Amino acid sequence: MQIAPSLLSCDFSIFGEEIVRVDKAGADLMHLDIMDGHFVPNLTFGAPIIKKLRKYTEKPFDVHLMISEPHRYIGDFADAGADIISFHTECDSDIEETLRLIEQRGVKPALAIKPGTSPDVVLPYLDRLYMVLVMTVEPGFGGQRFMADMMPKVEFLKKEIAARGLDTLIQVDGGIAKDTIATAAKAGVDICVAGTAVFGTPDAKAAIEELKALCK
Ligand code: DX5
Ligand code: ZN
Repeated sequence: MQIAPSLLSCDFSIFGEEIVRVDKAGADLMHLDIMDGHFVPNLTFGAPIIKKLRKYTEKPFDVHLMISEPHRYIGDFADAGADIISFHTECDSDIEETLRLIEQRGVKPALAIKPGTSPDVVLPYLDRLYMVLVMTVEPGFGGQRFMADMMPKVEFLKKEIAARGLDTLIQVDGGIAKDTIATAAKAGVDICVAGTAVFGTPDAKAAIEELKALCK
């Protein structure tokens, strides 16, 4: 299991230091939540901040766009140093066009689905995706309860990925903690995003090690 700490729960006044801290603690990738106050009822930060953060780690930047019109900002996030860009199937942009923009920039593309969205919507694009992000909370805020009833979506997508001989990864995001990560691992999840579970404790290294151990 790979762990992607969600920086949404970090101390934004020392954003760079927080990245260094979770890098040293064993984070596999840095999950950066971009919210526009429109697609979700919350605001975070944009590409200029990511660009400034890029120098603090060599770990991949996993940029989760919770914005209504992702196609307008793909170039900015690619320039800022995103390695993976996830956008939502429920957004207002054209999925095909947005995927193409990500591919053209040589960034790894991912599609994200909210809890109410069927995994069927990603099937036409599956062969082109580096990752599918199955949300296990309603996007917008950290610290919510994990929705275990999303695991059939993970199992369904894993089967489809295997049947097509792909190596697409499955990520879950929301409510991952000591008491929920084993459920995700059992369903076949490859990458768990964890905000509160990593930043809500003083020892991030112990938290990440424990989360990984619980998957074995
Ligand atoms: C929610 C974000 C998540 C969030 C997860 O919309 O996409 O990445 O920070 O936080 P926890 O792990 O606290 O549920
Ligand atoms: Zn996220």
